[in-house]
Amino acid sequence: MTVTVTTRGTAPSYLTEGRVAFRDGFVWGAATASYQIEGAAKEDGRGRSIWDTFSSVPGKVAGGDTGEVACDHYHRYADDVRLMCDLGLQAYRFSVAWPRIQADGSGPINDLGLAFYDRLVDELLESDITPYATLYHWDLPQALEDLGGWTARDTAYRFADYAQAVHARLGDRVRSWTTLNEPWVAAFLGYGNGVHAPGRKDPAAALHAAHHLLLGHGLSTQALRSAGAEEIMLVINSSPVLTPAQVHAPAAPANEADAAAVERIHALLTRQFLDPALRGEYPPAVLETLERHGGLGHIRDGDLEIINQPIELVGLNYYNPSVVEARLGEPADAAWPGSEDIRFSPADAPTTAMGWPIVPTGLSRLLLRLSHDYPEVGLFVTENGAAFDDVVTDGKVHDTNRVSYLEGHLRAVHAAIEAGADVRGYLAWSLLDNFEWAEGYSRRFGLVYVDYENQARIPKDSALWYRDVIQRNGLTL
Ligand code: FCB
Repeated sequence: MTVTVTTRGTAPSYLTEGRVAFRDGFVWGAATASYQIEGAAKEDGRGRSIWDTFSSVPGKVAGGDTGEVACDHYHRYADDVRLMCDLGLQAYRFSVAWPRIQADGSGPINDLGLAFYDRLVDELLESDITPYATLYHWDLPQALEDLGGWTARDTAYRFADYAQAVHARLGDRVRSWTTLNEPWVAAFLGYGNGVHAPGRKDPAAALHAAHHLLLGHGLSTQALRSAGAEEIMLVINSSPVLTPAQVHAPAAPANEADAAAVERIHALLTRQFLDPALRGEYPPAVLETLERHGGLGHIRDGDLEIINQPIELVGLNYYNPSVVEARLGEPADAAWPGSEDIRFSPADAPTTAMGWPIVPTGLSRLLLRLSHDYPEVGLFVTENGAAFDDVVTDGKVHDTNRVSYLEGHLRAVHAAIEAGADVRGYLAWSLLDNFEWAEGYSRRFGLVYVDYENQARIPKDSALWYRDVIQRNGLTL
């Protein structure tokens, strides 16, 4: 596979081509997630989620922030849809809060919770915005966590029941369904290093959670499909894995040990999810890691067949590349289970307010590698965006840094499509500034600024720029 990306200092070829036009039917939109925007944490029968619990523990979330009010989207959804409409969005990716539908994660279905998403979907459709519903964006009902959370096999079965209940109510109007958002993060930050809810720190628990999340994907896909769902997607956080030299010179040779480190991290980050879901098997690096952390006993006969359901799309959330080198002989305090003897370093590039390096060409490389490795499935950029320290000046936010971030990444998407990747759409992260997990409200990713004092929304310059991109179905120089 060759990717045409030039070295630093030289403009990549696609920058000089003039207008960057996307094909008709390419989908433009934005994404959010329930816990990050909804608020109304105790209303209409919503149960407690692991994020309510986690964010109430001092020291877990910056500033002691919680999602209790967030962007108050639960009450302001109609205004927010109007905003999307003003920006010309064609698609909106939102997630359903499981504890609104089943307070304890199983048992009775809460009609008031379903009614909220019912209203949201109707409002979107009236505005000609296509709903993309995600069933799990990390807000697990706390009652299920008390029974083991994703380390418990039963959670996967409960998830499929919940998926069926949501589809039964919305399936007549929602045609695109995402089972999981970023199972790697849910498993490895939630159960492995404890940075996210539920805050457990146990490598074996993280690996078990990853398998049960996949099982939940398979079971819910079966349920959705038999109920007639048209389009099913699995969304992963993926990044191209590179050696430091390859960040700006993709063809830079890697020695054998570094090349092995690159492939191992790619296997743990991406293939751990896509190989079972699309091929019905785990890559050897994942099996070896499991052998070292508690064994394979949690994988039962038939699980991989359940996980391997035909799906239409893989969604990619891309923010920055992973940069690794072998560090043989150095002390082995692995960043992740399986990453022993591998050193991670930040890419040598300017960073966002998250400290994440800005490497747009990484998105082209990722899209091309995945379309090469998994040609049977369409790709969708389900999240991409950046946090910057936005300032309101005379009622405006001149976020030129975000405009250039988005522009660079859209050019990278276009370059990948030109080189043959089957990319169906692009969803900016995020519509609104929101609760950025362990960073609380201190990091602003929105196209639209949110004043948390009074819940005012201010479309940033990037939102207005994005509106023009959508209208033109492309970029101009
Ligand atoms: C992704 C999450 C999303 C948001 C962005 C910045 O990992 O899916 O909710 O926090 O990162």
